[in-house]
Amino acid sequence: MKVLVVGKGGREHALAWKLAQSPQVEQLYAAPGNPGIAAHAQCLSDIRVDLDLSQRALLEVEILKLRDFAVAEGIDLTVVGPEAALAAGIVDRFQEAGLTIFGPTEAAARIECDKTFSKELMATIGVSTAAHQSFDDSASAIDYIRRQGAPIVIKAAGLAAGKGVIICRSEDEAITAVHDILDDGAFGQAGAQVVIEEFMEGEEASLFAICDGKNYINLVAAQDHKAIGEGDTGPNTGGMGAYAPAPVMTPTLVEQANKEIIEPVLAEMARRGSPYRGVLFCGLMLTKTGPRVVEFNCRFGDPESQVVLPLLRSDLVDLCLASARGDLSQAGPVELDTERAAVCVVMASDGYPGAYGTGRSIDGVDDTAGASDTDETIIFHAGTCLHADRLVTAGGRVLAVTAIAADISTAAQSAYSAIDRIHFEGAYWRRDIAYRALQRNQAQQPA
Ligand code: AMP
Ligand code: GLY
Repeated sequence: MKVLVVGKGGREHALAWKLAQSPQVEQLYAAPGNPGIAAHAQCLSDIRVDLDLSQRALLEVEILKLRDFAVAEGIDLTVVGPEAALAAGIVDRFQEAGLTIFGPTEAAARIECDKTFSKELMATIGVSTAAHQSFDDSASAIDYIRRQGAPIVIKAAGLAAGKGVIICRSEDEAITAVHDILDDGAFGQAGAQVVIEEFMEGEEASLFAICDGKNYINLVAAQDHKAIGEGDTGPNTGGMGAYAPAPVMTPTLVEQANKEIIEPVLAEMARRGSPYRGVLFCGLMLTKTGPRVVEFNCRFGDPESQVVLPLLRSDLVDLCLASARGDLSQAGPVELDTERAAVCVVMASDGYPGAYGTGRSIDGVDDTAGASDTDETIIFHAGTCLHADRLVTAGGRVLAVTAIAADISTAAQSAYSAIDRIHFEGAYWRRDIAYRALQRNQAQQPA
């Protein structure tokens, strides 16, 4: 079987790494891919299906180029990583050509890509989420902030790579954020409108469901670390590390989230004529009153995929095919690795999520293999490229170092020892990934 992965980040490296393990895959391609993905797949580096929606017209052209390639090459399955390609209709275009592709259609991808749509959807079916209001002029937004008080959350309504969210502890901070987004265009077109939300207090978790339009299968729940600084301080990023399983997401909470969130969403999307296929990623806030939705994503998480996929025992090809064909029962029983845990630490370029340098030489990536029967370390490439045969940095998030071991504490130690062997100028990583799970373990240990 010929399989194609769309994207070029750490998540897509994890997808390619997992797909390459399938005995069904004879040939793997990635567009555009990266040097890490190139170890598993042939990279079509000139097909730029990784563009974001600010370049939508160009992205649509690249999607058609990739579709032509997929038709000519006889690709049996395409797996899409990034939301922008989904929002730009890659699934629709591939399906029109009779190709099998894993992911939601443009209409279904609105669950992530159009926050107004997803809030309206949740309100219609009674899914619990933060109270909110949208504004496109700053005077009314500021008036609303003064009435609601702080803490309060300000979000750019469009896609901003996870960075368009500002948690404001004071009214002044919120007002500044509104001016930055609406009046000064801090997020460009993604900030033509702001969504102002109630602040929800609790611990977060990422719950994934592979969906076929009607039915779903959960993967292991994970926890991300969105903030740049230790102890979850400083501005939000795309995600600085993750671990799975997340002990905070107990089986009871998974069950509650399935019943109160995933099932009603799937039923409503189908009722509206845009059945949801692909991964539904529920970003949850586990509050005192139960799980509430922070946001939905229409794709795998990054860096959550780098811990969730290594803990999937089943063949990912079977799951993606069954979802894309609209019948998950074809996938057979799905097996998760319930005996081990995975921790991923992201190595970023200093300056990220603001401006950062690129082109810095990376050393030590090849000597961290260290796999044994029970433990494993995998270096996923997120923002790297080759420059005159040297591996160099090419993004804010550069590498995602995952370790898999018997428990979270051992996995975290292995991930950090792998990182100690990797060097590039200005490398930055959080030293406290998985701290919530580790604190929980300590609290549960007898004195
Ligand atoms: P989003 O891009 O909407 O997922 O937001 C990014 C991050 O901002 C979330 O993962 C939360 O950590 C935080 N956040 C977003 N909305 C809220 C909210 N209403 N209350 C508390 N935290 C939030
Ligand atoms: N790590 C969060 C996301 O992928 O949106």
